[in-house]
Amino acid sequence: MNKQAWIFALLITVLTCSFFVGKQSVTAKALLIPSNFPTPTYDLSKNPLTEEGFALGRKLFYDPLLSKDGTISCASCHQQDAGFVQADHDLSHGVEDRLGKRNALPIFNALFRKSFFWDGGVPKLDFVPVNPIENELEMDEKMDNVVHKLNASTNYRALFKNAFSVDTISSKEVLQAFAQFMYAMVSANAKYDKFVRKENNTLLDKEELAGFNLFKDKCASCHSTDLFTDDSFRNNGLDNEHPKDKGREEITLNLADRAKFKVPSLRNVSLTAPYMHDGRFNSLEEVMDHYANTVQNSSTLDPLLKSGTRLGIPLTSNEQKQLILFLNTLTDSTLINNKDFSNPKH
Ligand code: HEC
Ligand code: HEC
Repeated sequence: MNKQAWIFALLITVLTCSFFVGKQSVTAKALLIPSNFPTPTYDLSKNPLTEEGFALGRKLFYDPLLSKDGTISCASCHQQDAGFVQADHDLSHGVEDRLGKRNALPIFNALFRKSFFWDGGVPKLDFVPVNPIENELEMDEKMDNVVHKLNASTNYRALFKNAFSVDTISSKEVLQAFAQFMYAMVSANAKYDKFVRKENNTLLDKEELAGFNLFKDKCASCHSTDLFTDDSFRNNGLDNEHPKDKGREEITLNLADRAKFKVPSLRNVSLTAPYMHDGRFNSLEEVMDHYANTVQNSSTLDPLLKSGTRLGIPLTSNEQKQLILFLNTLTDSTLINNKDFSNPKH
C-alpha cells in the first residue's frame, strides 16, 4: 500500500484514542477527506463522528421499526449492493408496495452535497430522514411516533445514552445518528480515483482514456469536479414544455425552474440503474442515445444542449461506447463490500 492508499484506509479505521465526556468515553472515528475531493459542506463541528453515533445511525438505517407497519427500512430503497439505490426500480416502492414519485438517489458522498433530493427540496442532510419517514408513499410514519417507539426499547435507550449521553431519546439525536452514518459513507476508491491520485501506478486503458477526454469535453461542464456534479439544477432535455414532474419549480415556484433537476453524481453509476429522476432509462446505452439523439426542446432546456438548431451532444456510436467504458471506471467496489455500511444483523 502506498501512502495515499494507506491514509484512505484510515477512513474506516477506528482510532483508539478516547476522550472523556463526563464519565463516558467517546471513541472518535477517523474521517479523512480524499485529496481529489472538494471541501465538505456538512458542518462536522456540530455533529462530530463517533464510533457509537455511527453504529447507531447504521442500526437505524437498517431497522424497519421506523416505518408504520414495520416492513420498510431506509435500506429497502437504498441497497448497498446497488450503490445505495433501489435495484431494478424506476420509481421507489414503500409500505404496502406503494409507488413513490421518483427514482431513489444514492447516499454516499452526502458530506459534500449542497442540497438534497432531485429538486433540492431538502437543504441539509440532518433534515433528510424526516422526509422518507413521514412520506405516506415511503415509510408513512410520524417522527414523534418513531421517537416514542425508540424510547420504548431498552436496547435503543442504552445505545442512545452511550452515544449522546441522553436518558430520553429525542428526534435531535435520531437525526444526528442518521447523519453520522450517512456522511461517513465516502466513496472515493474507484479505478478513476487511483488513476488521478496516482496510486499503485493505476492507469486507464486506451479506450477508457479516450472516454475520459470526451467526458471532459462534452459532459464535465455539468458533471463537474471529482464528485461529477456541480450540484446545480438543470434541464437535460428529457421532456418537452409539459413534463409530468416539474422538478425544481415545485420548490421555487419559478417557471424558469420548470423541469430542472439536480445534476446527479456519476460515481458508481454502473451500479445505480435505472437512470434519471423517474428511472426512465434502463442502461447507460440508453442514456448515451438520449444525449446524442433524443434531447427535447423547451424554454428551460439547458443552453449547453442547444447549438443553433441542433439539440443534444453529437456523439458517434464509438464515442458513446468509450464514454460508457470511462463511466465504468467510477465504480468503487470497496463501497459495496465495506462491512461498516452493511446490515449490522448480518
Ligand atoms: C420507499 C423508498 C425510500 C425509503 C424507504 C427511503 N428513501 Fe431515501 N430516497 C428515496 C427517493 C425516491 C429519493 C429521491 C427523492 C426525491 O428526489 O424527491 C431519496 C433520497 C434520499 C437522499 C438524498 C440523496 C441526495 O443526494 O439528494 C438521502 C440522503 C436519503 N434518501 C436517505 C434516506 C434515509 C436516511 C431513509 C430512512 C429514514 C430513506 N432515505 C428511506 C427513496 C427512499
Ligand atoms: C447541461 C448539463 C448536462 C450535461 C452537459 C450532461 N448532463 Fe448528464 N445529467 C444532467 C442532469 C440535469 C441529469 C438528471 C436529469 C433528470 O433526471 O431529470 C443528468 C443525468 C445523467 C445520467 C443519469 C444518472 C443517474 O444517476 O440517473 C447520466 C448517466 C449522465 N447524465 C451522463 C452524462 C454524460 C455521459 C454526459 C456527456 C455526454 C452528460 N451527462 C452531459 C445534466 C447534464
